[in-house]
Amino acid sequence: MLQNALNQSKIYLKEIIEPGDVVVDATAGNGHDTLYLAKLVTPSGKVVAFDIQQAAVESTKQRLSSAGVEHAEVILAGHERLEEFISQGVRAVVFNLGYLPGADHTVTTESSKTIQAIEAALRLLVVKGRIVLVIYHGHQTGKIERSAVLDFVATLPQEQYQVLHSAFLNQQNSPPELVVIERKN
Ligand SMILES: C[S@@+](CC[C@H](N)C(=O)[O-])C[C@H]1O[C@@H](n2cnc3c(N)ncnc32)[C@H](O)[C@@H]1O
Repeated sequence: MLQNALNQSKIYLKEIIEPGDVVVDATAGNGHDTLYLAKLVTPSGKVVAFDIQQAAVESTKQRLSSAGVEHAEVILAGHERLEEFISQGVRAVVFNLGYLPGADHTVTTESSKTIQAIEAALRLLVVKGRIVLVIYHGHQTGKIERSAVLDFVATLPQEQYQVLHSAFLNQQNSPPELVVIERKN
């Protein structure tokens, strides 16, 4: 069975993240990805997670604390402000775009801020590091965001970056898609 975009994202992250790395969860939500990253960088690494919703920050902190994780910082701020909080090189940045399941669907990631955040992430990414995006485009804002993100990542210079786009072509209901950017040098 082929893996869905979310599972693919985890595989692409696991391939390159090592204990001691600094990594970013750009959309903490309920903290599933934050916890996944925290397990990969333990014991000496660090995860920095961002979300604009207090409820998401609390939910992520709760998940981390239940798992006994202390090496993750959860920040109530937009991912477009990444560089205000991180200055060292990062091995990976994950974006799980869209809205928080079970919460207000109008609070969702937006293309202009997502692209600002990808630009910031590219400036911080170490060589062989990856930016992984899971794109949900079943809703209207998601369709606009998908198109803007794909247009933007397609312009990245191939001498510096590899850009992968993975999508199921024969599935109904706009299944999520995956984009992976790897810094080559
Ligand atoms: C699909 S959810 C993320 C799910 C999460 N990865 C998890 O494991 O539960 C998307 C999240 O992005 C957040 N978000 C929206 N705009 C944002 C922004 N500019 N910066 C950071 N987070 C944002 C939303 O509040 C929402 O919690």
